[in-house]
Amino acid sequence: MSLSTINTGLGFINTINAHIALASTKWCTILHKTAAKLVHKRRFFFLLGSLSTLLLSSTLFFHNLKNKLLLTRNKKALRDRRKAFTRSLYKIELHCHLTGSLRLSTLNELLKSHNLPPYTPPPTLTLKSCFTAFPHIHSAIKTVQNLSRVTFECLADLSYANVIYAEIRTTPRALLNSTKSEYIETVLSCFSEWSLGDSKLLPRLIISVDRSKPVSEAYENVKIAVEKFNHPSNKCLVGIDLGGDPTKGSFIDFLPVLTLARTSGLKITVHCGEIINPSEIDEILNFRPDRLGHFLTCTDEQFERARDNEIPIEVCPTSNLLTLGLNSDSVSLKTRHGTLRKCIETAASFSISTDDPGLFRTNPVRELWSVSKAFELDEWRIAGVVWDMVDQVFEGNRKTRAYLARDVRVRIKKMLRVLEEEGGTEK
Ligand SMILES: *[C@@H]1O[C@H](CO)[C@@H](O)[C@H](O)[C@H]1NC(C)=O
Ligand SMILES: *[C@@H]1O[C@H](CO)[C@@H](O)[C@H](O)[C@H]1NC(C)=O
Ligand SMILES: [Zn+2]
Repeated sequence: MSLSTINTGLGFINTINAHIALASTKWCTILHKTAAKLVHKRRFFFLLGSLSTLLLSSTLFFHNLKNKLLLTRNKKALRDRRKAFTRSLYKIELHCHLTGSLRLSTLNELLKSHNLPPYTPPPTLTLKSCFTAFPHIHSAIKTVQNLSRVTFECLADLSYANVIYAEIRTTPRALLNSTKSEYIETVLSCFSEWSLGDSKLLPRLIISVDRSKPVSEAYENVKIAVEKFNHPSNKCLVGIDLGGDPTKGSFIDFLPVLTLARTSGLKITVHCGEIINPSEIDEILNFRPDRLGHFLTCTDEQFERARDNEIPIEVCPTSNLLTLGLNSDSVSLKTRHGTLRKCIETAASFSISTDDPGLFRTNPVRELWSVSKAFELDEWRIAGVVWDMVDQVFEGNRKTRAYLARDVRVRIKKMLRVLEEEGGTEK
């Protein structure tokens, strides 16, 4: 059923309803008056009058109820249509941690294969309770074989959500019988192998630097990154991320190593504003990263600086609400996520991503859909969010960027044309 049919139907029903309401009110009055006149003469008439009134008012009641139900059903039809639209869009994922995307079932399989006790997820999601998974994930991914499996599953899950370009980030570490460098090689070779298959998803890698670890480790990671990035065969490695516990380490200590990465041509994204620390946000803005992760606790002025410098913001709705200590519902997302609201209201560049889909039990469709629901974005505006994300990718190859842009945007145009033909909106 198209929207215009629904609207016409509704208008018609409303008119009928108004007529019935008017007619029945008139009838009720007449009947009541007649009944009142006759009440002294014959009790029978009084009874008849009351019965008729009862009959008419109940007819009216059921009519209204039916009307309300129809309205609810139309709202549901509209919602379902938007949700299906969100699912079918070709999407882009820009902020996804590899190990945070681990499926619970796989985590427990891995633990079992190492003779470790299973992990029980917390009954309620909070940032703290979700992060209890990390030590288990750490001990579950012991070998490069385990890492390969996790990588392929991450790609499969993104591909299932119609993501066609994903930048996945991970902090390399030495696994059993292998080095940090081999960790990165393993992930990259999984990406290459994946690209030989028939999935449309293009995987890209961002190497993370953990701010809670010594700066010397950051140098190790960046050195590996630069080496792999400069290798002629490199296709997938695109950038560096600074992340980890925001209460530990300080940005300024990592400035030289990030500058080194940038000079080598790698793009930089920085986790920013996860806790209140205005002076650090200023330092990060002075560095002008290529993108900002979360950017939750910024002041209006800092937000404007990011926007004026055209630094795109990576918004991760579910994760952000947890960071802010809020429930993940539409009302919180609309009223308490200041950064997202400002992004939408001021047309700043932003993306919608998952952060840790495994940990937060979410996926790219859900995250985009939650924004659409909270801000009542119609299909045109949902598509607009994805359309703009094409310009924020770290992919350096011009041809690949052009293909990606074409794929995402041609699909959007097609889907919107179909919607227009169905009379979806007046646009
Ligand atoms: C993890 O890796 C080890 C060593 O390669 C392997 O024996 C084990 O089966 C793997 N676990 C799973 C669940 O794949
Ligand atoms: C690690 O190396 C040791 C010694 O070479 C070998 O016995 C063991 O099987 C290796 N483990 C894995 C998971 O490859
Ligand atoms: Zn993150």
